[in-house]
Amino acid sequence: MTARITGSTGAPYARIMSVGSYRPERVVTNDEVCLRIDSTDEWIRERSGIVERRYAAADESVVDLAVNAAGKALAASGVAPDQVGFVLVATVTHPYPTPSAAAEVAFRLGAINAGATDISSACAGFCYGLAMAQDMIRCGSAEYVVLVGVEKLTDWIDLTDRSTAFIFADGAGAVVVGPSQEPAIGPVVWGSDGSQLDAICMTQSLTDYRDHGGTRFPTLSMKGQQVFRWAVSEMSKVSNQALERAGVSADDLDAFIPHQANMRITDALIRALKLPAHVPVARDIETTGNTSAASIPIAMDRMLATGEVPHGGTALLIGFGAGLAYAAQVATLP
Ligand code: UT7
Repeated sequence: MTARITGSTGAPYARIMSVGSYRPERVVTNDEVCLRIDSTDEWIRERSGIVERRYAAADESVVDLAVNAAGKALAASGVAPDQVGFVLVATVTHPYPTPSAAAEVAFRLGAINAGATDISSACAGFCYGLAMAQDMIRCGSAEYVVLVGVEKLTDWIDLTDRSTAFIFADGAGAVVVGPSQEPAIGPVVWGSDGSQLDAICMTQSLTDYRDHGGTRFPTLSMKGQQVFRWAVSEMSKVSNQALERAGVSADDLDAFIPHQANMRITDALIRALKLPAHVPVARDIETTGNTSAASIPIAMDRMLATGEVPHGGTALLIGFGAGLAYAAQVATLP
């Protein structure tokens, strides 16, 4: 007789229990960036909305940034490290394909009972991870998930390349996701467009490799206009689908927290979504730059910390970037 496998079921739903973030100490102004590229403070502010950003120290690793943010989120959640069932780290700047950043993050958090893996969905990585965390909790694979979005992009950009040097930066944000009796994370709308891989990629050509502190990293290159056009034309549709699937209207929102890609992309999405003026919008890019997978949880943490949005409020989240991968969902804020 064929053996019968015992299935597992978890909580009815999942929710974000807490958030924490880490912005590296060093503030880098547009004027400092312009020492290495042919640009101006005025151009950068006007075209991207960025006034300053943070760079991690040379001896600060992706894992250091991640542990800092995740430690804060874990402490705020009240969940003990040994209760964590999974650690997900969304990043494209951990220097090694293996071992994962997540395995080291779990170890350093004391999450001795956790599975661990990295997510490679670039700027969409946090929203991908949130959907995966919710599915794990609902299926019974984990009771609590630590999800981190973290990047040290300064290791991977050419600081003399004016198409990327002014926009990307370093940082980490993390949430703890746990069980819920009520729906608190809406259905995800996600996808990717592999026909546009070259729009943002780590350059493969050996001749484009550069030395970086003794380690050879490929360099991140971006066709800014192509990504900009795609984001503005497609991401409003994806945002609307996420609202629809969650049964929430733009008017019901307490916050709009899009990936902090470019202030002009955020403004275009606001117009396309006809977002009412009373909904607070994340504009963290102004002082944090574009931190890819980290940008949404960093912005979320700041909006909650400043009281700009209420704890327990309803937010629309959307991440988009290399791949060209995207993911959006509505979520109740911790
Ligand atoms: O997070 C992952 C996803 N990434 C994104 O979503 C980024 C999407 N793209 C963007 O945000 C924008 O494309 C950028 C901010 C990267 C660039 O802004 P843009 O308005 O698309 O600039 P552009 O490439 O169309 O260039 C406009 C002009 C050009 O000059 P001409 O041909 O009009 O004379 C460029 O040569 O600006 C020039 N330019 C610059 N000038 C000063 C390009 N880069 C610079 C620069 N400083 N850094």
